[in-house]
Amino acid sequence: MASYDIRVIGDPVLRQKARGVNDIDGSLVRLVDDMIETMYEAPGIGLAAPQVGVQKRLFVWDMGEGPRVIVNPEIVESDGEWLYDEGCLSVPGLSWEIIRPKTVHLVGRDLDGNEMSLEVDELEARLFQHEIDHLDGTLLIERLDSDARKTALKAIRDLQLAEVMPVPPSAGPANTRAGQDLRLP
Ligand code: NI
Repeated sequence: MASYDIRVIGDPVLRQKARGVNDIDGSLVRLVDDMIETMYEAPGIGLAAPQVGVQKRLFVWDMGEGPRVIVNPEIVESDGEWLYDEGCLSVPGLSWEIIRPKTVHLVGRDLDGNEMSLEVDELEARLFQHEIDHLDGTLLIERLDSDARKTALKAIRDLQLAEVMPVPPSAGPANTRAGQDLRLP
């Protein structure tokens, strides 16, 4: 197995709609193995194929009961509301309280082509909705209202800037201001 680099916000691949999987073959099985390794290394509890740059409709997850995968997943029913402080490996270091349905019914296929049907709630339901969003090119900040999204985008820019241009501990306020004047794409 080999691990991938996880794509982060700003990478156009995260904004594209992934294509349905027609053939479950050896290369798809290897992709899934590598995605599972990447998810554990991160570490995370879920990972969708576009997050490793692959535009296929599948994701992996582990809620503490071992790794699982679903191909061509689709939510056929959802109900209720649940608030959760949600993060994403593609938007590292930040999280936001987001309301989404509390229960979902997810269908799809396993790697043998068998039908899967999962009715889950709370964290696992949240994970499924989050990963399906990735397959549709949607990041979690798009689930915020417009004011919260503006604040979130600023927090993301500030964090990316801090990583690209760390302010030395000895630097005074002048350097800090100069740093804030930089604009990343
Ligand atoms: Ni994510």
